[in-house]
Amino acid sequence: MENETKKVMISGIQPSGELHLGNYLGPLRHWPEMIDEFDCYFFLADLHTITVRQDPAELRKRTLTLIAQYIACGLDPEKCVLFIQSHVPAHSQLGWVLNCYTMFGELSRMTQFKDKSARNADNINAGLFTYPVLMAADILLYQPDFVPVGEDQKQHVEICRDIAGRFNGIYGDVLKAPQPYIAKVGARIMSLSTPNSKMSKSQPEGCVFLMEKPEDIARKFKRAVTDSDTERCVRWDLEHKPGVSNLMQIYASATGKSYEEIEREFDGKGYGAFKPAVGEAVVEVLRPIREETGRLLADKAYLEGVYRAGAEKAEYIANKTLRKVYKKVGFLPPAK
Ligand code: TYM
Repeated sequence: MENETKKVMISGIQPSGELHLGNYLGPLRHWPEMIDEFDCYFFLADLHTITVRQDPAELRKRTLTLIAQYIACGLDPEKCVLFIQSHVPAHSQLGWVLNCYTMFGELSRMTQFKDKSARNADNINAGLFTYPVLMAADILLYQPDFVPVGEDQKQHVEICRDIAGRFNGIYGDVLKAPQPYIAKVGARIMSLSTPNSKMSKSQPEGCVFLMEKPEDIARKFKRAVTDSDTERCVRWDLEHKPGVSNLMQIYASATGKSYEEIEREFDGKGYGAFKPAVGEAVVEVLRPIREETGRLLADKAYLEGVYRAGAEKAEYIANKTLRKVYKKVGFLPPAK
């Protein structure tokens, strides 16, 4: 009864590289706060990873590590559904149907497609192009109210809403169009080495990984690029001081302090004191996650149990939506 009134949330992360601070501070750290209030589905978007070539053994290893990290970050599998995308075939099945309700022109406008195809010029495959359609299927199968993501995924949630709207325009109220849910602080963590571009695994020098050693994390923060202004004080100014503002955003996310509190704390102290303090705060936030991930990875049977149970629950819900969609478009149901 209780579940019928709860709002629904879904989100996922690709196991295409090591989890980094942007993934954590942007969406992931907010997810555990939601699991009591919402019906939550969190998955590992492994189907999406092969739009860029992957080493198969590495992909398997990273997928297992990511499920352990989800749990270590506070996603209690008893309270939310944790699953692996490729274990629920309905994602690919609805993805195909929605491909036929998505326009070439709208996919061509996706900024991530333009960025990724520029970076992988020798492998601009059809999957890279239709990726937002699979993402729409990931979302719409669960009829969610909200999709908690970082700022860079907002455009993909918007196209998902457009696809749902187009489908519903033809067949009636079949798919629920959800809202993106973007945190106020942490939605766009920038690179430590080039603060004008977002933190991403494709630029490892400016990226802090969750499983990195504390001394390496501390070193990256000490070397973080700050700004070449003359005042050298810790002050929030996104336009003129992107490096310092990014560090302030990270410090605020890690400590819960406001930007005013941070400015007061480092008043008259300069960047030399600020940068190591941000590094230490991050190390302390990540330490328990790293240790718990290691402990969970030693218990493969437990992890298998989690993603087996998760896939069963996800599949039940996903297949209900898929059956509705198949019926609406006119597919003859299989004989019983
Ligand atoms: P992915 O795997 O690139 O990133 C996972 C999540 O991390 C957020 N993120 C960031 N947030 C703040 N600062 C950053 N520097 C930063 N970098 C990444 C992303 O916004 C995302 O929320 N297409 C998705 C995965 C996906 C998905 C879905 C998400 C597939 N299907 C359905 C939600 C619902 C992606 O590639 O995220």
